[in-house]
Amino acid sequence: MTIKQLYVAGAGLMGAGIAQTAITCGFDVTLREVDDKLLNRGIDNIKKRLDSLVQKGKLDAAQRDAALNRLHPTTSLEAAGRADFVIEAITENFEAKQDLFKRLDGVCKPEAILASNTSSIPITRMAATTKRPDRFIGMHFFNPVPVMPLVELTRGRETSEATLATTLDLSRSLNKTPITSLDYPGFIVNRMLVPFINEAIRALTEGLGTRDDIDQGARLGLHHPMGPLELADFVGLDTHLYICGVLYEGLHDPRFAAPPLLRQLVDAGHFGRKTGRGFYRYGPDGNRLAD
Ligand code: 3HC
Repeated sequence: MTIKQLYVAGAGLMGAGIAQTAITCGFDVTLREVDDKLLNRGIDNIKKRLDSLVQKGKLDAAQRDAALNRLHPTTSLEAAGRADFVIEAITENFEAKQDLFKRLDGVCKPEAILASNTSSIPITRMAATTKRPDRFIGMHFFNPVPVMPLVELTRGRETSEATLATTLDLSRSLNKTPITSLDYPGFIVNRMLVPFINEAIRALTEGLGTRDDIDQGARLGLHHPMGPLELADFVGLDTHLYICGVLYEGLHDPRFAAPPLLRQLVDAGHFGRKTGRGFYRYGPDGNRLAD
């Protein structure tokens, strides 16, 4: 099946990143948010990123304008009726995703494929909320989407071979390298990442090292671009806490249990870079501030 029209639900960090990637790869993208304020914020972010690529000489102005012409912002759910392929990238919450997928299932063409960018929620469980579990798949991108080369694909129990084949083709057309995972909690990447971040938070709690010691350890000793505490702030401490819950519930392994300090920061409203405070402090444009 050839994909021409994409519909991306959610214009936050991930949704806007997916839309930016797709329009620069030549796809027509309808990007949906629930209200104009959130929609405009997502569109502004895409414009800023494309302008910065033009300034760096990585994209010319005509390519930027052509890409933006392929972007169709909307608050309409019904606009998904035109799509060949839908990528859901809303908040990491099963109930919210379930509600959205039920509604999308009602308006999408019968042959359209529904994909979720979930990082942890079982694909089979979400697919079962629709009447097209064979045309449902996990398509997990990494932040920042335009930069990170990986996409993790997960088949649910009923996902067809044809759906997987189409999604593999789409991933490559988006210049991503796909890997496939079984439908186990956290799939492959978060199965590795969550215990790593949790261990760093426990090390900080125990006073094994300072925040900066721990992050420098990973940056300089393991050659990671970000230390685990900085990365947790980048992912969002609220999102990380939610993912811990799904993994712990699914695998009953204490490595995935949320460390108390993580829960405390989230309780205090410190979600990391997006709220200006987490393990570090950030300015309004997301740049890290000195302590
Ligand atoms: N959106 C788009 N592009 C971005 C970006 C963003 N939010 N942030 C940075 N970039 C681009 C820059 O424009 C720059 O592009 P260029 O090379 O074409 O000029 C490039 O990324 C490098 O940016 P900078 O030079 O400003 O900064 P750094 O060299 O410090 O890189 C980083 C920033 C790419 C974010 C790097 O620190 C990094 O790779 N961090 C780790 C990211 C990571 O691990 N992500 C996965 C998180 S886990 C996840 O997403 C899964 C979820 O389920 C939890």
